[in-house]
Amino acid sequence: MAARLSSTLGCWSQRCRGVGAAVPWSLAPRVQGARVRPMYKSAGDLAGTRVKVVDLRSDTVTQPCAEMRRAMAEAEVGDDVYGEDPTVNKLQHRAAQIFGTEAALFVTSGTMGNLIPVMCHCRAGGAEILVGDQSHMYIYEQGASAKIAGVLARPVRTRGDGCLDLQDLESKIQHGYPDAHFAETRLICLENTHNRMGGRVLPLSYLREVRHLADRYGLQIHLDGARLFNAAHALGVEPAQIVQFCDTVSLCVSKGLGAPVGALLGGRAQFVADARRVRKLLGGGMRQAGVLAAAAVVALNRAEENVISDHRNTKAFSEGVQTLASPLCTTDPSTVDSNIVLLTLDGRLPGQELCDRLVNVTPLELESGQGVSVRAHALSASCVRVVWHRDISALDTQLALRKLSDVLQTYTAEQSCRVTLPCRGLGKLR
Ligand SMILES: Cc1ncc(COP(=O)(O)O)c(C=O)c1O
Repeated sequence: MAARLSSTLGCWSQRCRGVGAAVPWSLAPRVQGARVRPMYKSAGDLAGTRVKVVDLRSDTVTQPCAEMRRAMAEAEVGDDVYGEDPTVNKLQHRAAQIFGTEAALFVTSGTMGNLIPVMCHCRAGGAEILVGDQSHMYIYEQGASAKIAGVLARPVRTRGDGCLDLQDLESKIQHGYPDAHFAETRLICLENTHNRMGGRVLPLSYLREVRHLADRYGLQIHLDGARLFNAAHALGVEPAQIVQFCDTVSLCVSKGLGAPVGALLGGRAQFVADARRVRKLLGGGMRQAGVLAAAAVVALNRAEENVISDHRNTKAFSEGVQTLASPLCTTDPSTVDSNIVLLTLDGRLPGQELCDRLVNVTPLELESGQGVSVRAHALSASCVRVVWHRDISALDTQLALRKLSDVLQTYTAEQSCRVTLPCRGLGKLR
């Protein structure tokens, strides 16, 4: 394996070194004034060419593996709205064991797995939830708590490590209810691992503190555990040791775990019975859902091994970026807890341009027969996110790092050439 990795990488590295070092080639058009940017081919134009695509945009891009597809084809099914789908029942039983909760429910998505608890915990009118201002629930779910549940979402300051600021959290709890001015605070929502904060993991001691706070004010806690297995592995504990501090939890099987669809919601038996009704209301009663549940069972069985290798690859990449020592693009491996890396840009190379350059494959790469196209996600002009999942190998990780290195070197060379070019012709322009 090691020999295969080094021989394959060697092949790619020759090509890559060619691109990185071939400054005169990439700059020639600019110097001659014929074109201002080197000519690239975008990933969209690459059908039929030998290009390796390394998709790090998100861990939602995974493809169901052969084992999942086989399990789906062979799944025993029934009408799950009647509770008669044996594969869904098996999945839910397994999920409840993993969570350490009385029961669990298979739902269509992480978004539904976050909305249902809001609707169940906030049945009385005029309720509100306290939610992180950088959380998925607050930013990326279309304000569903307000739009669909009729529940106010009050944002709480999120620290760089993904934890909610406890002082801010406590100060936001409404003491005034039932004074007619105030909504009633019912629910605290946490996210572990924290997506926007770069996959940061909330420590158990912090979760315990939030539990104490919630108990003091009679509040419930919902955990958006879309990446619960990543959090558990990073903390070196079982998922149930995280969930014990929460009333309800959601977990996505369609992210790094690789199933095509679905999430699991855990909690007490009465909560899950209520959640089942709300799921139907939202159009999430899925009938012969065992076809999907079968893939989710495989995802759960394989979760631990996948997460281990994802975290290893993520760490290797972040350390590799640090070794590149480019001021253009940096990351701090000590803040990489799980399967997400946030690349910080120093302002010269904007996030979207870095992503475009990573995706694009130069004609020289194509000629060599081994182009690499890396997909990443620009969160802002100064931040690009890359995410690991079960479809990304150690070799893919090295190729992605090499591509990043080439892009940064080429960009640096272009910029320094631009600065040192003689300003011929300026007089005429005046
Ligand atoms: C932390 C978190 N929660 C919830 C979701 C929503 O999951 P879904 O896309 O399945 O609705 C995501 C999706 O990326 C997420 O990152």
